[in-house]
Amino acid sequence: MSSPQTTGAALLPSQRHLFDIPDDVAFLNCAYMSPLPKASVAAGERGLARKARPWMITPEDFFSASEAVRARFAGLINAAPDDVAFAPAVSYGMAQAAANIALVRTQTIVTLAEQFPSNVYPWMELAERTGAQFIAVPRPGDDEWTAALLAAINTATGVVAVPHCHWTDGSLIDLEAVGNACRRVGAVLCVDATQSVGALPFDVRSIDPDYLAVASYKWLLGPYSFGFLYVAPRRQAERPIEHNWIARRGAQDFAGLVNYQREFQDGARRFDVGERSNFALMPVADASLKLIADWTVPRILATLAHRTKAIAARARGEFGIDSVPSDRRAGHYLGLRFRGGVPGDLLAQLAAEHVYVSVRGAAMRVTPHLWTTDADVERLFAVLQRAVA
Ligand SMILES: Cc1ncc(COP(=O)(O)O)c(C=O)c1O
Repeated sequence: MSSPQTTGAALLPSQRHLFDIPDDVAFLNCAYMSPLPKASVAAGERGLARKARPWMITPEDFFSASEAVRARFAGLINAAPDDVAFAPAVSYGMAQAAANIALVRTQTIVTLAEQFPSNVYPWMELAERTGAQFIAVPRPGDDEWTAALLAAINTATGVVAVPHCHWTDGSLIDLEAVGNACRRVGAVLCVDATQSVGALPFDVRSIDPDYLAVASYKWLLGPYSFGFLYVAPRRQAERPIEHNWIARRGAQDFAGLVNYQREFQDGARRFDVGERSNFALMPVADASLKLIADWTVPRILATLAHRTKAIAARARGEFGIDSVPSDRRAGHYLGLRFRGGVPGDLLAQLAAEHVYVSVRGAAMRVTPHLWTTDADVERLFAVLQRAVA
């Protein structure tokens, strides 16, 4: 499989001191929502306070901070800043994509079974609107999603809308292979990488998606209601779903905004959500993305892969609990599969001991990050010992 996995990058030491997590909390739930780093909280407090003194906010401020964050996110996916738009939710980003894809009745839209709804409903709706067939590739028994997905892509395929790893259990999709298949048949590739970008390398130059949406509140360690939409250069002449002043050429000239413009700002900026300058949340995203850039994604992945592999091995060895084999799983992401399903009261028992994980589908997701300590993992296994041994 050619998808990026850990390549021997050096492990990072614990970064828990950068987060406001009490010692007795084992938060193994980044897939649900990351905690904001302390630096991001401080940046957000400063950002919010600016609105108390609007006379200090200049026209230039509507542009400079967002351009810096646009460039930071672009760096994370090996894109040009011009190819990145602000989208507050994955559903918003996929709405931009779906509004610009023309399909006919004989075509198909291919997704994965049990995919996250924000990358499903826009496509069900597009299928309804155009008569195209909506396909959800069934979950393969051997966790080889890539092979199953490739088998579903053919000359009738109009859209492939998938994640980089499955949000229930971390099964990895080889997006380079999928990208190649899409280009071969002329299908549009739409990726929701909310559960991977920030922890798993993503290179738009090798995968070449048409659209890539990422919400910031999980692996980007960023704010809620904030995220990004990469739009391939070949799709940047399309129509955005909303028309706001700042996406139009010359918006820097506030006095001249009454001279309505047909032209847009450069690149993907035409797809920016309205009020994207967001003085409260933009500094939060900036501080979080800076931390990720300092740590580097390969080192984050190596560290988390080391952690999840150890948890998977111990869960199997001590309790016979299964998970996706590590060569088919994104290194940062683990879903434990209990024989006979996740015990009904397990989450409550864990929460009572301040151990936080989540259940999605048939898997109990255990998603640590750089704040996770050995003691956190011991707390998890102490509860498992009582609950399922
Ligand atoms: C794979 C995936 N995509 C997207 C989201 C969030 O979607 P939205 O930004 O549309 O609320 C989640 C949240 O759990 C997710 O797991």
